[in-house]
Amino acid sequence: MSYINDMIADRFRDESFDIAKEDYKFIKIKRAKEDIKRRYPNVKLIDLGIGEPDLPADPRIVKLLCQEAGKSENRWYADNGIPEFQQAAAEYLNKVFGVKDIDPHNEILHGIGAKSILSMLPLCLINPGDITITTLPSYPIISTHTKYLGGVVYGLPLTRANNFYPDFSNIPNIILYRSKILYINYPNNPTGQIPTEDFYKRVIDFAYKNNIIVVADSSYAALTFDGIKPLSFLSIDGAKEVGVEIHSLSKAFNMTGWRIAFVAGNSDVINIYGKVKANSDSGQFRAIQKSGIYALKHPEITEKNCIKYSRRFDLLIDVLREVGFKAQKPKATFYCYVPIPRGTRSGIVFKDAEDFSLFLLKNAFICTVPWNDPEPYIRLSVTFEAKDYNEEKIIIDELKKRLMDLELVF
Ligand SMILES: Cc1ncc(COP(=O)(O)O)c(C=O)c1O
Repeated sequence: MSYINDMIADRFRDESFDIAKEDYKFIKIKRAKEDIKRRYPNVKLIDLGIGEPDLPADPRIVKLLCQEAGKSENRWYADNGIPEFQQAAAEYLNKVFGVKDIDPHNEILHGIGAKSILSMLPLCLINPGDITITTLPSYPIISTHTKYLGGVVYGLPLTRANNFYPDFSNIPNIILYRSKILYINYPNNPTGQIPTEDFYKRVIDFAYKNNIIVVADSSYAALTFDGIKPLSFLSIDGAKEVGVEIHSLSKAFNMTGWRIAFVAGNSDVINIYGKVKANSDSGQFRAIQKSGIYALKHPEITEKNCIKYSRRFDLLIDVLREVGFKAQKPKATFYCYVPIPRGTRSGIVFKDAEDFSLFLLKNAFICTVPWNDPEPYIRLSVTFEAKDYNEEKIIIDELKKRLMDLELVF
């Protein structure tokens, strides 16, 4: 008899954890996907569920890593990072977003991915009973760690009616009084909504009035198209007084597996993050930080990605609309977010988004990601594997055929 299971911390028994539910949802879809591949090895799955770029990092970045990996001076623990990376991050913020007043030494630190930074910030700020305000849906990591620490999560719904921006006007005073963190993520995963200056000003105003620290997750900030200029939270007056912003090289530079990101802004937050980080990891491998510097100095790499994603959205959105979905081309990210249909002409009724997503997978071999809270939507990513426009067109034409055959009713 093993006693180990009984000794696992109580926090992992709390079924209200979003992460548990999210994990369950992803596991269910993943299992269904594996099952389809096993049962129909010759059928080509159209995978619109992937939240990662379809291409590897730029060959120049890969080459630099190969050169740097074996150098003796790169072998040490990197601790809280090399100053050259902080400098490059500051220059990147200036060049891409026009953010000029960031001190690279006191106001920027690297992280082993945005996820790792998000997991450490609650440890910097949250006492038991403190509240993290987040959006619904949301990237879950900061909420999960808030709960691990005995904190509470308060969700602000992102709906079609509020144009996928949180409404700060209806939060009860009892919640505001105990709130420490506001987590926002624009351009947004999964809705694809972009930030505006006006929205960020409202965020700063809200945070300042209520003594709340803003964590702006800008992992997709540079992935914009159709004439939209990348916007940084830190470019707005007063942002540095109320919070920090996270930038990741994962999506912008096709470096998801490399694990490199940075957090910039309020020096008190950066300082305490540095302490937690120094007690959690020993920094990203210097050779990867140096490759990251190369990436940050070449924002045109991201622009190439933007052109591709925009082109794919042009094809995808047309098809979704023809089929009957209320689809709008996003202005950033590689995600589009559409309400689910009611059912099919043959009489099937979809219970919720998960039901529809599984139906698509089993009946049309199309993979998507569902959300039910606050509204039943699915997310489709344009990160499917295709080497050029012709291959993209073939995949989207095939998608249209499969969707049409389902005879969906909206
Ligand atoms: C909103 C958001 N934040 C953070 C991350 C994690 O990024 P990283 O690869 O830098 O950990 C993701 C990844 O999907 C994301 O969608």
